Order: sequence, then C-alpha cells, then structure tokens
Amino acid sequence: MNTVEKKLSMLHRDAQKDYMRIGRGVVKSIFRPMQPADFKNAYLPVSQKQGEALREIIIKNNFKEIVEFGTSFGISTIYLADGARETNGKVVSTELIESKAARAGENIKDAGLSDFVEILVGDAMQTLKDHSSPIDFLFLDGWKDLYLPLFKMLEPNFHSGTMIYADNMDMAGTQPYAAYLSEKRNSYSTEIIHGGIAYLSSVY
Ligand SMILES: C[S@@+](CC[C@H](N)C(=O)[O-])C[C@H]1O[C@@H](n2cnc3c(N)ncnc32)[C@H](O)[C@@H]1O
Repeated sequence: MNTVEKKLSMLHRDAQKDYMRIGRGVVKSIFRPMQPADFKNAYLPVSQKQGEALREIIIKNNFKEIVEFGTSFGISTIYLADGARETNGKVVSTELIESKAARAGENIKDAGLSDFVEILVGDAMQTLKDHSSPIDFLFLDGWKDLYLPLFKMLEPNFHSGTMIYADNMDMAGTQPYAAYLSEKRNSYSTEIIHGGIAYLSSVY
C-alpha cells in the first residue's frame, strides 16, 4: 500500500465507526430537524468504489481544474487530489465548518497531497462566488438543497467537456437539481451511476 492508500484505509475505517454515532443523531431528528452543526464530527464520505471512480474520471479526461462542494474530513478530497497529482491539476475544495476543514487539511497532508489542494472555509455559496477559473470537474457533496444554486452560480465557469458528479441523488433535497438537468437536457447529458446514488453529467 502506498501513503495515499494507507491513509484512505484508516479514514474509511474511522468513518465506518462513525456511522454508529450518527445513528444516535438520527433519533434526535425525530424531535427536531437536523442542522449542519449536528454533523460537525461526522465523516459522511463517499465509498471507496466512488472515490476510485472520481480519481479515474480525472485521470481519464486529464482534468486539471477540479472543484469540490463539501470537504468534510477530506476522504473524497484525497481521491480527487490523487487524480490531480497525475494530471498536474489542483483541487479547490469547500467546507462550511472550520474544525472539519482543519482536520481535512491534516489528513490531506498525511496523504502527501497538500500541494494539490486548497480548502476554502465557509459557505461555498460565498467562498466560490468569485471563482474565476474554468472548471473541468465539479464534485457536489455538500448540503443537498444547495446543489442547484451552487451549480447555477458556477455554470459560467463550465466549458464543453466539463463533467459534474453529484452524490446522494437518491436524497429528496437533490430533486430540484435533477429536475434542472432534465429541463436542460440539450445542454447536459446525464448518466445515473453507482446504482442510482450518483449522477454524472457532461456539458455538450
Ligand atoms: C457529505 S459531507 C462531504 C463528504 C466528503 N465529500 C467525503 O466524501 O469525504 C458534506 C459536507 O459538506 C459541508 N457543507 C454543507 N454545506 C456547506 C456549504 N454551504 N459550504 C461548504 N460546505 C458545506 C458539511 O459541513 C459537510 O462536512
């Protein structure tokens, strides 16, 4: 195992343990709607299979300008950055909660990938507002109700061949985004992948 694989294996193991704790949080949600702060210690990562697919998409398409919505503790970011290292690209990732961004930064450093990642701390709707670079690959994995507004905000940065991977498309909050892609089917082709949990869209 190389350094990246070792770090990812540790992080996936920790994330697995974390699901037990989140289970208790879901019980709380019966009494009140859950808030982002309820997840301040939660990993909520992509699976290993998804992570490897993200890395492969970047390498196969030689993507260099990568943007991530929702860093958490950096598991997906490590897969993205491992791809970016191969293409000589970079990942701009975004995390609302400062303590999570700090932990992600440490994990990315342990994996030896800090040179390929910048983490913007705060609400991505603000931190990416003035993002001026073209985007080759956008990974959507923050709060689901923001998929559509964030996508629309970044649409001017897309070009022919840009790909957008949206996770958790089986969650209700993503439906406005799914409806928009369907409405704009002349601009985007969309493939449903990983058994329906993710959409991979390409700009025509
Ligand atoms: C599902 S987790 C991301 C998991 C991560 N992509 C992975 O696979 O390891 C979602 C993360 O998005 C962050 N988030 C939610 N809303 C956000 C916002 N408006 N701006 C930036 N980050 C946000 C949350 O704090 C949370 O850590």
